[in-house]
Amino acid sequence: MKVTAILLAAGKGRRMGGDVPKQYMDLCGRPLLSYALETLERSEVISDIVAVVPAGDEAYVQEKIAAPLRASKVRCYAAGGAERCESVGNGLEAVTWPCDYVFIHDGARPFVSVEILQRLYAAVRETGAAVAAVKSKDTVKLADAHGFVAATPDRENVWIVQTPQCFDFRLAAGAYAAARGKEPVPTDDAMVVETYTHHAVKLVEGSYSNIKITSPDDIAVAEAILQRNRK
Ligand code: CTP
Ligand code: MG
Repeated sequence: MKVTAILLAAGKGRRMGGDVPKQYMDLCGRPLLSYALETLERSEVISDIVAVVPAGDEAYVQEKIAAPLRASKVRCYAAGGAERCESVGNGLEAVTWPCDYVFIHDGARPFVSVEILQRLYAAVRETGAAVAAVKSKDTVKLADAHGFVAATPDRENVWIVQTPQCFDFRLAAGAYAAARGKEPVPTDDAMVVETYTHHAVKLVEGSYSNIKITSPDDIAVAEAILQRNRK
């Protein structure tokens, strides 16, 4: 079985701010993006990688991030789009080699582990669509248009989704082709499959450490996770 990972690193990092784009920002001596790339390289599950980066950054990422890791699975770079879903679409269209399953991962989640990749692989082979997620530790409220509570879903059924989000390649490619340019703009990959196919999506245990580095507050948490992982 051939698995391609689409590693997303073409965002603007607006909520992070700062002068270095978020994906290249230093985290304990290494660029943020290098952590997820290293884990994808190390995982036996992943055969090939498409790195989606801002147009014009390909050589920079190759030289500063992929080459120092001796990353041998990066088959090509694709240029990002204005929205995350466009970046994913471009990544999927760049896959011109044999591919049974695709693992779509945010470069801004440095703490994906080989164990999570393994669990997802087992699940996606069985179901065709599997996404990393954790049960919500907090009670979640659905609001009405005026900011009043409309409903309280049973916390047992509330999951916070993460990436990797993993699909049968043809299922994802078809769903993304159908979604191009349509509203609403999907906020994750499962939503594209939910909206444009009838395929059920399985929630698979991710990890509470598999955080997305989004705003400056997340950096201290990320540093603490790294320190703990190094012990
Ligand atoms: N991403 C992408 N292309 C986009 C938007 C996002 O490849 N047009 C990627 C980001 O690089 C990141 C992941 O999708 O790895 C999750 O996005 P997010 O955390 O929102 O990052 P940014 O979009 O860069 O940040 P912000 O929304 O604060 O601008
Ligand atoms: Mg964003």
